[in-house]
Amino acid sequence: MWAFLSENLRISHRGNLPVSLSDCQLIDLPKIVDARGNLTFIEGGRHVPFDIKRVYYLYDVPGGAERGGHAHKDLHQLIIAMSGSFDIVLDDGRQKKRMHLNRSYYGLYVCPMIWREMDNFSSGAVCLVLASNTYDESDYYRDYGDFLKAVSSH
Ligand code: TYD
Repeated sequence: MWAFLSENLRISHRGNLPVSLSDCQLIDLPKIVDARGNLTFIEGGRHVPFDIKRVYYLYDVPGGAERGGHAHKDLHQLIIAMSGSFDIVLDDGRQKKRMHLNRSYYGLYVCPMIWREMDNFSSGAVCLVLASNTYDESDYYRDYGDFLKAVSSH
């Protein structure tokens, strides 16, 4: 089951230990409820189990488009449906899980060595990603076979 991380939980550095889907968890972000509109905030190292070095977002995603289709060797990420909704399929090389993200106060923590595919974007969906490092193409597995080989050699 997907657990909710408490505010101060940090994911320990796993080094080369194999990861599994249970290492990817939904984080319940702080929410300040206000009649004028709600507010959620995220502090690196406090609400997310890594220091935030990069923020990027997907938007204007056409209906039927698929994103992702890769894994990262060392990158930690928090994925949030800032607006609208989309599905994300997480795959640790042994099992897969499809999740529907549709709340801006939940963040999906995705650890390194997890293949992800994203689809079913609603109209106007915005996917915000907080990442533990700057962009580095050499950190990607873009070939599923290469990813499976790397997972099985762990
Ligand atoms: P990619 O990570 O494959 O996108 P997605 O997982 O959302 O499908 O990146 C798409 C392109 O954008 C690719 O050419 C790399 C580039 N890119 C950057 O230059 N900087 C970034 O921070 C990211 C995430 C991607």
